[in-house]
Amino acid sequence: MTDWDKTTWRTKPRVQMPDYTDAQALNAVEAQLAKYPPLVFAGEAARLKSELGKAARGEAFLLQGGDCAESFAAFTADGIRDTFKVMLQMAMVLTYGAKVPVVKVGRMAGQFAKPRSANTEVVNGVELPSYRGDIINELEFTPEARIPDPKKMLQAYTQAAATLNLLRAYSTGGLADVHQVHSWTLGFTEADEAQKYREMANRLSDTLDFMKAAGITADKLHSLQTVDFYTSHESLLLEYEEALTRKDVTTGQTVAGSGHMIWIGDRTRQPDGAHVEFARGVSNPIGLKCGPTTTADDLKVLMAKLNPDNESGRLTLIARFGAGSVGDHLPRLIKTVQQEGANVVWTCDPMHGNTIKSATGYKTRPFDSVLREVQEFFGVHKAEGTIPGGVHFEMTGADVTECTGGVRAVTDEDLSDRYHTACDPRLNASQSLELAFLVAEELSALRAGTAARAKAG
Ligand code: PEP
Ligand code: CO
Repeated sequence: MTDWDKTTWRTKPRVQMPDYTDAQALNAVEAQLAKYPPLVFAGEAARLKSELGKAARGEAFLLQGGDCAESFAAFTADGIRDTFKVMLQMAMVLTYGAKVPVVKVGRMAGQFAKPRSANTEVVNGVELPSYRGDIINELEFTPEARIPDPKKMLQAYTQAAATLNLLRAYSTGGLADVHQVHSWTLGFTEADEAQKYREMANRLSDTLDFMKAAGITADKLHSLQTVDFYTSHESLLLEYEEALTRKDVTTGQTVAGSGHMIWIGDRTRQPDGAHVEFARGVSNPIGLKCGPTTTADDLKVLMAKLNPDNESGRLTLIARFGAGSVGDHLPRLIKTVQQEGANVVWTCDPMHGNTIKSATGYKTRPFDSVLREVQEFFGVHKAEGTIPGGVHFEMTGADVTECTGGVRAVTDEDLSDRYHTACDPRLNASQSLELAFLVAEELSALRAGTAARAKAG
């Protein structure tokens, strides 16, 4: 790309980014980060792109999930392990239930910067700048805490590196071995869901025993003993992104070294804005949030800019319309994609269009709305004959009460029990598993229908 380098975003209008007051401190942090090793490598991002290409064609399914915002205070090995385990469980349910390989991508190891609807927050008549994620300022409601501090980028980098180190160890060091399928269950998972999961895990164990008896031994089962797990985050704080961007010596490509996949949020997808400018030139897979205000014209320009070579797996469109609204928007955007002949992965984020304030004053998401949006997403793809390529959730392995509903029925009154999110409400382990079973059902019904039609036709 001749008219792009990692700094050209600086010439474009920027939104949702902090105004750092101390330019010297900012420059020092950027210079330091630019010297640090990248967190991910070009070959890994390329491999994820090729996996996502399969999802675009219906040969794989993307499971993307994790915190709304990672936090410095909640950073523990157990927290990472538990979220990783829940994602493995969900992936198993999808792989076994829908007979499709699952591409696993965490909202992890870099998901620190948050766009906000309002620039300020008022509490008891006091107005302060909004919290924008631990990489920028602090959640605590004091004037000092809300001042953006560039040094927080260094702590975010360190935490991301440690998180990724642990994820790499979990992926290959035994925890993700499919023979451990029973040990991924967390103690507090709701009985019904845990039982359903246990039954599926038993069937899987039987299959593994059969394979062993048939002479398919461990050395031939490498792919069952390890897992490919990728990282992703919203590419929002462009100073951080730029500083970790590297040119790959073997391919000559420029890769965002902050995570395998980066995405552009619903509030920062202006076609001529800084965020699109940055993303268009890096070789990683790119996600683009599509909401009710995404117009066909914008989508056309964005697809041309973000995927000029129409590479398969390069662009994932993350639909987040809200339950009841998918039918109003998804068909028109699918039409645009078809008119352009664009290669995209369609995924469903049933979280961000379904945020409400509970009667008890908490920001929450009714589990029913989340389920309903997923069903509507599959319904539209079925009607259009297009491919639902994945799902995108805010979830955690922690036993939180942030979204209402689910088999364990979190009520408005329960929200205060364990409401720990630094930003948006997440599904807990039981709710995540329940959702995975639903997605597996939708997906296998759709795939069975497609296979039957192919046979008949
Ligand atoms: C998010 O994914 O946390 C987010 C802010 O989403 P959106 O840009 O779709 O609102
Ligand atoms: Co969020």
